[in-house]
Amino acid sequence: MRILMVCLGNICRSPLAEGILKHKVRQRGLDWDVDSAGTGHWHAGELPDRRSIATARQYQIDITDQRARQFRPEDFERFDRIFVMDTQNQRDVLQLARDTSHREKVRLILDLTHPDQDRSVPDPYYDDDGFEEVFHMLDAACDKLLEQHGL
Ligand code: 4NP
Repeated sequence: MRILMVCLGNICRSPLAEGILKHKVRQRGLDWDVDSAGTGHWHAGELPDRRSIATARQYQIDITDQRARQFRPEDFERFDRIFVMDTQNQRDVLQLARDTSHREKVRLILDLTHPDQDRSVPDPYYDDDGFEEVFHMLDAACDKLLEQHGL
């Protein structure tokens, strides 16, 4: 499986999602390709937000090897599944989709735990206390994804 996690800046939510899924995949000895990107370009080349780094570290997950990059249309070809964090990301990514095969790859990540509710992962950028909650939402979603694959 080739999985891409997408948020707005690629410094807060999607780096956590990437780190969490990579950690679980490694624990299970799977050969999955996991990456993340942002719909915006403003933070390209940057490390994840220090609050995301600190939150991941609390759970023995190191995300300091990650650098932000912008989502690009080629990602529709490179990945099997594109998980977006919120409905704005969903709109922005779908706008770049060329056809149905691209559109079908795009899912709200919280559909894994809360199907058909159009739930968004809250943007923690302006809320220091939000990172822990975001971590747990993403952790549960990644567990569901592996469960769906019988893992
Ligand atoms: P992210 O959070 O989309 O989870 O990476 C944000 C990061 C930066 C900004 C907004 C959200 N920003 O406005 O710079």
